[in-house]
Amino acid sequence: MSKKIKKDYSRPLDVIVVEDNQVDARILESMLLDPPTIAKTLKIANTLSSAIKILEENEIEIAILDLNLPDSKGIDTIVEISKKFPKLTIVINTGAYEDELGLEALSLGAQDFLLKGKYNAYVLNKILRYCLERKRLEIELKQAYETLKDTQSQLIESEKMKVVGGLASGVAHEVKNPLATILYGVTYLIEQVKMDDDKYNLVLNNIKEATNRANGIITDLLDFASLNKMNRTKSNIVDVIEKSLSLVHYQISKNVIDIVKDYEVDLPLLMIDVNRIEQVFVNIFLNAIFSMEKNGKIGIRIHSSFIFDNKQALPSAAKDKFNPEQKLIIVEIDDVGKGIPENEISRIFDPFYTSRRGSGGVGLGLSVSKNIIENHGGSIVVENKADCGVIAKLIFIV
Ligand SMILES: Nc1ncnc2c1ncn2[C@@H]1O[C@H](COP(=O)(O)OP(=O)(O)OP(=O)(O)O)[C@@H](O)[C@H]1O
Ligand SMILES: [Mg+2]
Repeated sequence: MSKKIKKDYSRPLDVIVVEDNQVDARILESMLLDPPTIAKTLKIANTLSSAIKILEENEIEIAILDLNLPDSKGIDTIVEISKKFPKLTIVINTGAYEDELGLEALSLGAQDFLLKGKYNAYVLNKILRYCLERKRLEIELKQAYETLKDTQSQLIESEKMKVVGGLASGVAHEVKNPLATILYGVTYLIEQVKMDDDKYNLVLNNIKEATNRANGIITDLLDFASLNKMNRTKSNIVDVIEKSLSLVHYQISKNVIDIVKDYEVDLPLLMIDVNRIEQVFVNIFLNAIFSMEKNGKIGIRIHSSFIFDNKQALPSAAKDKFNPEQKLIIVEIDDVGKGIPENEISRIFDPFYTSRRGSGGVGLGLSVSKNIIENHGGSIVVENKADCGVIAKLIFIV
């Protein structure tokens, strides 16, 4: 049997009347306050600006609004007020000649409109409660729609990943064995067959290098598809970052890049797969290095916090992941490079998206990194900084 929810339809309301005509305001006041009382709080404003001030300072649930005020006329009044107070229930109080305006107001967020002189306290009470209920349902519907949209995009994303992951691991397994044979063969030739021909040696070394590179891509693809096999240990994030830095030391010194560190002391340990997290940081460092000319700068900041203060920037799937009881470690890595064009930024986590195809980019770095971080229960955000360059923010749950 469905459970009946009892609603209190005689509950006194918190009301504002926005009306510059004193007679009309008085009529409403007596309807709202004379017994049986409709309003427990009644505020009266005669301009839009004073109404906004009252609404900012008081808990008001419903506004009875005249659209033509000294400081705002017609439709603009409702547009402004419903934009500023999206949860407020709005009922328009119009003169008889403003029928059209009343109807238009409904499409802009008002719940109903009253015709001055055509209602009494009984009708007013009924309309106000009906409007409140409609507004409540409208908000619920909007929230349900937002949740549905979020869930849908998460589903699409995870289906996309499943397909890519499945395809990738299939191809990778098939290619890995022949690659190993080529690598074994070419290494054998380099070591065993000595020839005094420079060209011959160069060709063999080129083959070996290309094979190693292909092998690296295949390994990335396999990583991407098999992240459930993780080997987590209690580790210090600072050690992992320092190790990752040492792995890109060559590129850092070649490009004369200044590394500016700001590490909080005594950070808590994290349960992480050290090799995978190293892989994430190496990619982020390389992305930063490749985005800059010589003499660039990379900033690394590590701190712990109970909240991630840039929640808005999180992907929708991650927004509700962190609650204030969870301690987080936040790593921010920023560069002063050329940044990411705004129209490309939504694609940077897509597998095989790269702007460096001609110079060795495969486009797996960030998609693999995202997978790794999310498999650790964390989140990664990469965005342009206001001035120049990019900032990557990685959030780990302690
Ligand atoms: N710090 C950054 N500055 C500018 N662009 C960046 C930065 N980080 C990522 N990008 C952009 O995002 C793209 C994707 O990055 P990702 O790491 O996934 O791939 P890649 O670096 O191109 O190749 P791979 O990492 O597989 O070798 C890059 O090609 C680049 O266009
Ligand atoms: Mg990369």
